Amino acid sequence: MKQKVTVVGAGNVGATAAQRLAEKELCDVVLVDVVEGVPQGKSLDLTEAAPIEKHDAHLTGTNGYEETAGSNIVIITAGIPRKPGMSRDDLISTNAGIMKSVTEQVVKHSPDSILIIVSNPLDAMCHVALDASGFPKNRVMGMAGVLDSARFRAFIAMELDVSVENTHAFVLGGHGDTMVPLPRFSTVAGIPITELMSKERIDALVKRTANGGAEIVSLLKTGSAYYAPASAAVEMAESILKDKKKILPCAAYLQGEYDCQDLFIGVPVKLGADGIEGVIEISLTDEEKVALKKSADSVQELKETLKKLA
Ligand code: NAI
Ligand code: 2OP
Repeated sequence: MKQKVTVVGAGNVGATAAQRLAEKELCDVVLVDVVEGVPQGKSLDLTEAAPIEKHDAHLTGTNGYEETAGSNIVIITAGIPRKPGMSRDDLISTNAGIMKSVTEQVVKHSPDSILIIVSNPLDAMCHVALDASGFPKNRVMGMAGVLDSARFRAFIAMELDVSVENTHAFVLGGHGDTMVPLPRFSTVAGIPITELMSKERIDALVKRTANGGAEIVSLLKTGSAYYAPASAAVEMAESILKDKKKILPCAAYLQGEYDCQDLFIGVPVKLGADGIEGVIEISLTDEEKVALKKSADSVQELKETLKKLA
C-alpha cells in the first residue's frame, strides 16, 4: 500500500485505531509501543485476521522507530489513561514527558508527517507535540471534537429514534468538562435539534456529552473509552490520506481565530492532504462566546502547568 500511518501506543486506542485503518484498507500500519512483544503480537494477530477481513494492509509491530520512517501520518496515543476519580488533567506530568520523547523520535524518522495527537490531557499534549516537533501548525492537531460530537450524535439518535446517519453535531472548545456543544448547529436531516426537542432534553444530552468520557470510565473502571476514540482518530486520518477536505472539529493551534491566541482549542477545520487547510470561523452568540472563553481559559491554565513542569 502506498500510504503509511504509524500509531504510537499499542494499547486500547492505538490497537483499535490500527485495526480500523487496516480493515478500511487506508494504508500500511506501524504499531509502536515501549512494552516488548505487545505491538509485535497485536500487529501479527491483526495480520492473521486479514484473510478473513479481506484486506491487504501490511501491519508491523515494533519497539523502535526505524520501521516508522516516511510515515504520512503519526497518531500518538502513548501515555496513561485515566481511572475512576481521575480527571484528564491529572495525567499531565506523566504524559507530557512521554509525548515529548515520542514526538522527538517520530519527527527524526518522518519529518514530513502530520501528527494526530490523542493522549490526554489532549489540548495540553498538542502544545507539547507542536513544540517538540517544530512542525508548522497545519501538521499538528488533536483528536477530541470528532469524538465529542459523535457522542452527541449518538445521544441525539437514541433520543429521537432516528438513524445516526441523519445526525450532525457541533462541539467547540477544549476536550474537558468545559467543552461547548452547540445545539443550534446540531441537526437531524438538516433540521436543527432545537426544532425537535425541548430545551430540557437538549440540556440533558449536552450534559451527557460533556460527561461522556467519565461515563465510560465509571463503567470500565480500569481505563477509558477506546472504540469511539479510535474511530474518531481514523476519520481524521482518512480525510487527510484521501484529501477529502472534510470539515471536522479538531484541536487546532489558533492565532487570533475565535479570539484565541497561541492556543490549541477545538474548532471546525478543513482536513486534507496538507493537514489543517483552514479554520472555519462562525459567529457565536454572547452566551456561546462566554462558554468558549471559559474553555480556552482552562486550556491556558494547562499550558501554564506545562511551563512549570518544563
Ligand atoms: P492504554 O493504557 O491502553 O495504552 C497506552 C499505551 O501507551 C500502552 O500500551 C503503553 O505501553 C504505551 N506507552 C506508554 N509510554 C509509551 C512510550 N513512551 N512510547 C510508546 N508507547 C508508550 O491507554 P488508551 O486507553 O489507549 O489511552 C491512551 C491515551 O489516549 C490516554 O492518555 C487517554 O487518556 C487518551 N485518550 C484520549 C482521547 C481523546 O479524546 N483525545 C480518548 C481516549 C483516550
Ligand atoms: C474520553 O473522552 C478519556 O478523553 C477520553 O473518553
